[in-house]
Amino acid sequence: MAKITASVYTSHVPAIGAALDLGKSGEPYWKKVFDGYEFSKTWLKENKPDVIFLVFNDHATSFSLDLIPTFAIGTAADFAPADEGWGPRPVPEVIGHPRLAAHIAQSVIQQDFDLTIVNKMDVDHGLTVPLSLMCGQPQAWPCPVIPFAVNVVQYPVPSGARCFALGQAIRRAVESYDEPLKVQIWGTGGMSHQLQGARAGLINAAWDNAFLDRLIADPKGLSTMPHIEYVREAGSEGIELVMWLIARGAMADVAGGPPPTVVHRFFHVPASNTAVGHLILDNAA
Ligand code: DHB
Ligand code: FE
Repeated sequence: MAKITASVYTSHVPAIGAALDLGKSGEPYWKKVFDGYEFSKTWLKENKPDVIFLVFNDHATSFSLDLIPTFAIGTAADFAPADEGWGPRPVPEVIGHPRLAAHIAQSVIQQDFDLTIVNKMDVDHGLTVPLSLMCGQPQAWPCPVIPFAVNVVQYPVPSGARCFALGQAIRRAVESYDEPLKVQIWGTGGMSHQLQGARAGLINAAWDNAFLDRLIADPKGLSTMPHIEYVREAGSEGIELVMWLIARGAMADVAGGPPPTVVHRFFHVPASNTAVGHLILDNAA
């Protein structure tokens, strides 16, 4: 059977992708960001999964106000990097895993989560920047990726509790797949940031670090935090953090197993307008 081996959490920011693509990752401003991922790149090589289930948000790139799926699973064979206004990033195409994605869709929908099935989707910085941070600049991404898009752009967005329960359903889906695949689940976006309005530029490092503490030790309690607290404390775009609860919900301890090992933790302010948070949690064997 397939199993969830680890979860990875990381912020995304388009400027991180641009810094890498334009050869600026060694500049002092950006080096401080990329240094936090040096360990992670080695860890990922040594703990290479067969598939990454990557929870992210589209930023009105593939979806628009014409169509707003709350939870959308990418079932295609491949996904092209999107053109976000400056041309598509020069990064590898994302190869999907249609068979596992279709199985997860079947299982999770039968567990009463109404997923939207997406057979064609371009993927924006929400997906490609986490891959770049964790993998650097390879010719090809290390394994197939199942993109899982969550609406955190247009209200109403899903609650933390719903996301946490969905992670548990995804775990059950993976564990009922009849092939011994090692699957990592990544939760991306956040941490505190606000890109518009009177509070543009808001960052709340104390709140972010408390979020990391609770994500590790008390994810169930954290999942009951209402939206208004994310927005008030972490800014309007801080709501992207609810996606981390999907990945956390898929970990073994939530299903009665042992607590995960904290393999790596990193926090840095700022990258562009955003606080960068990053965690790797390994499921005890
Ligand atoms: C920034 C952060 C985001 O999450 C995003 O989607 C766009 C921009 C920023 O900090 O610049
Ligand atoms: Fe974003």
